[in-house]
Amino acid sequence: MASSTLIFSLFALILIITTIPLSMSSPVQGFAARLIHRDSPESPLYDPAATRAHLAQSARRRTIARQNYFNRLMSSGNKWGSSLISATLDQGHGDFIMQYKIGTPRVDTFGIFDTGSSLIWMQCEPCQKCYMQTIPIYDPAKSESYQKVKCGSVECSTTAYTSCTEDGECKYRIEYQDGSLTEGDIATEILMLEDDGLSGNVNLSNMVIGCGHYNLDTVEDYSPGVVGLSREPSSLVGQIGFRHVSYCIPSEDKGSRSSVKIGLPAVITEENTQTPMLSGKGGLYYLSLEGISIGGARLNIPRSVFDMTPEGDGGVIMDSGTSFTLIAPEGFGAVKQAVLDALSEFKPVEDSDKLYPFCYDDGRFKLETTPEIVFHFTRLDFPLAAGNTWIRNSQGHFCLAIRESVGNFNIFGLYQHRNANVGFDFNNNIVSLKYTDCQ
Ligand SMILES: *[C@@H]1O[C@H](CO)[C@@H](O)[C@H](O)[C@H]1NC(C)=O
Repeated sequence: MASSTLIFSLFALILIITTIPLSMSSPVQGFAARLIHRDSPESPLYDPAATRAHLAQSARRRTIARQNYFNRLMSSGNKWGSSLISATLDQGHGDFIMQYKIGTPRVDTFGIFDTGSSLIWMQCEPCQKCYMQTIPIYDPAKSESYQKVKCGSVECSTTAYTSCTEDGECKYRIEYQDGSLTEGDIATEILMLEDDGLSGNVNLSNMVIGCGHYNLDTVEDYSPGVVGLSREPSSLVGQIGFRHVSYCIPSEDKGSRSSVKIGLPAVITEENTQTPMLSGKGGLYYLSLEGISIGGARLNIPRSVFDMTPEGDGGVIMDSGTSFTLIAPEGFGAVKQAVLDALSEFKPVEDSDKLYPFCYDDGRFKLETTPEIVFHFTRLDFPLAAGNTWIRNSQGHFCLAIRESVGNFNIFGLYQHRNANVGFDFNNNIVSLKYTDCQ
């Protein structure tokens, strides 16, 4: 159902990147925006009645949907710049939300913080069809700064999801594999990010957004929309043109609040914490992974399991929208076996939540005595903290928080880089990764 006439020119891309739409008298050097865990009491998505089993169920739905999304993205034979983006995406949304204000006057809203998406979109009145969300739906008729984008304009060509109607309106449609979709107008609007530590707040004017009048949410996500932070020109990061981005996601015991820092405040940690950032499909953040060790022994996994093919398929993606690291089937078997072997004194049990590959229900199980898993990125060995390797399921069993991928791609998930500062430096194409206090 890809209705899109794809307009995507390099010319437009360059123009957008060099136009920084900040409505500031003095140039803005950057800002930090608040991130909140979706299930924390501070979150607008917080459901006080949700049990651990409920939360596990919805995490499971999100995880499966997310895998389908990447599977589709990875298996599409199209090269970047062709119809890759018109392939159906999947609404496997992330665990953290980003709060911001929109319009004039400004109203509060939020979206899923998603480095794997390329558009900022939200449900919009009038709704031809909207799913339930926890705050009022944004109404562009009440905003003085809302402006629909015309066909043929630069803004209409920043995203590959767009098409033109006969009467010259610029529309977008993002279809998700699970049946979810969002469809509406491409518009420009002011977004205000409340800065978490700098100068109070920042107004970003003329930001290209997707205003969705027809939305289906089969994942029951209830988020008003998504804030895409991919490397594509249509994402938040792509549109404002800053060259540095960082974020740091705390574990639950360290609090549920965090921030994403863009521009000057972004933290790129020192050279021995850096690894190359590779380019690939969909503006995703690709890492160069050379191998994995468990309990000090390097696993015998061929490099090809982690490398992108010459066609740009596969590889290792760093993704804020995927909770648990996924390893391609050819490598996952070795990981699973090595962990089971190292813990052979315990008997593994099945995960009642059906989310993790295996669990332990044994009072003697201690995080401190589990084998250390080290990801050997190019020039950076990153040991997973035990707390980032194991998770308690709704029964309280300890489960391995790493899963087998449904396709030949790997994802370095959010749970595995909790309590670590993640820095993206687009000038030098590096990712820095260092454990820190995320507060
Ligand atoms: C952003 O816009 C709001 C609403 O007009 C205003 O109150 C605020 O001062 C602006 N922020 C900056 C930093 O200009």
